[in-house]
This record gives sequence, structure tokens and C-alpha cells, in this order.
Amino acid sequence: MKLNTRKIKSRKLSKGARPLSMLTCYDYQTAQLLNETDLDLILVGDSVGNVVLGYETTVETTLEDMMTFGRAVKRGAPDKFTVVDLPFGTYATVERGLDNTIKLFQYTKAEALKLEGASVTFCELIKKCTEVGIPVMGHIGLTPQSVHQQGGYYTHGKNDPDALRLKSEAKALQDAGCFALVLECVTAPLAQEISQELSIPTIGIGSGDQTDGQVLVINDLLKMGPNRPPNFCHPVADFYELKRQGVELYLKDVASKKDQNTSQTHTP
Ligand code: KIV
Repeated sequence: MKLNTRKIKSRKLSKGARPLSMLTCYDYQTAQLLNETDLDLILVGDSVGNVVLGYETTVETTLEDMMTFGRAVKRGAPDKFTVVDLPFGTYATVERGLDNTIKLFQYTKAEALKLEGASVTFCELIKKCTEVGIPVMGHIGLTPQSVHQQGGYYTHGKNDPDALRLKSEAKALQDAGCFALVLECVTAPLAQEISQELSIPTIGIGSGDQTDGQVLVINDLLKMGPNRPPNFCHPVADFYELKRQGVELYLKDVASKKDQNTSQTHTP
């Protein structure tokens, strides 16, 4: 059953509701697979820049990237509520943000967009988007688009001022009209507190297990690359190794054909 913003919000309200499940996805065929599962939401994250395009940070991910990958995923997963990330710089002002949001939303056919941060400008933009009819998911804590400004990748909310700031950001995003909120690398007790204080669902990544839902980068979950996934992700498979074995089988197969040809040529 395809979700919508009302059903997503009700998963917060109904006691004992199943936690929301979200995975990133960047390509048509994986989207086809996810479309056949019980997964609740798909996120076409700007992490596509890291794991698919090999960029060093998501700062390099462009609007064109998100348009291409967002649309491919939506083609493969028409039945899944799909959220597409607004990339770095595309929502630096309300006017620019609104233009880019409409463009991305309309082109990809996503059901919602996500942006990182909770500044006054971003909250104003979120209000405008919801007026226009574009649902927005918020994202606070570790916000990779601000990696240089935040000074690296680390857990947020470890001290009182930081925790207070995150709580007020979460409330501001809810008041601006976000239908859900990603909490990335926020300490587990703070993520729990924020989840209890908000009326919209929270979706955690590296933020403990007391949020209203969980999200992971699918490439980490399936270990699709050579690097060790982040500590909070426990891979369920090793696709990198499987791909290596598959390629090696193919190489052996090709070599054996040559051997066969050679022996056939030399047979009198
Ligand atoms: O881009 C992304 O993959 C994300 C998740 C880490 C939440 O924003």
C-alpha cells in the first residue's frame, strides 16, 4: 500500500505503530526491487554523489544529478512514497529554493523533497513549499552538506547548548510545515526526547532506536563498496565481495573459452 503524508504522520499518532522504514535508492533496477517490498519510503539522497558518482562530499552533488537519479528511481518505484534531496546551494535563498524545488518536484515526480538545516530562510522556504503543495522532510544533526561548516562528521547533541539548539530546530521545522524529520547522528537520548516532543514522525540514522523510523544508505546496508560502512550500520550482505566473485567467474569462463579455441585450433 502506497503511503502518503497523512498516513506517514498517522504512524506517529497510532500507538504501537510499526516504525517507518526508509532506504536510499539511486537507480531504476534497485527501485524496481524496492517497489516489490514492504519498505515504506525511498530516499533519493544527495549521497548519490558519494556512493554512485564518487564525489568527495555531497557539496558536489548538483540539481541535474538529483533530477536524473530521482526520475530514474521514480520510474522503477511508482508505488513507493519517494523523497528526493535538494542538493547543496539550490535553496540558499527562498526565491532560488522555490524555483528549484518546483523544478525538481515536477521533473522527478517525487512525492516529497528533503532539505538540510533549519535556518530562518529554510523555514520560510518550507512554508512556501507547503503552500504550493510540495511536502518537505526536514533533516538536522549531522547535515553532510554543511560538513565544512560543521567541522567534520560526528555525533551531535552531546552538550546542553547543542541539544537545546537541536530541539528548537526540530520544533521550528515542524512549525514551518515539515511532515517528517530526519535526525542524523544525534545522541540516542536526545533523539528520543525530540521524537517524544514532536507531533511529526522522526526518522533516525545513527541516532539510536527510539525514533519513529529508521533510514540507511542502501550501499552501506548491502556493503556495495570497498569501504567499511559507518559504525551504526550493520551490513546484511557483502555485495562488493559478491560482485568480485561474479567478475572472477566471468574471467575464468572467458579464459576457458580461449583455451577451448586454442585446443580446437591445434587439434588435427
Ligand atoms: O543523502 C542521504 O543519503 C541522506 C541520508 C543519510 C539520510 O540524507
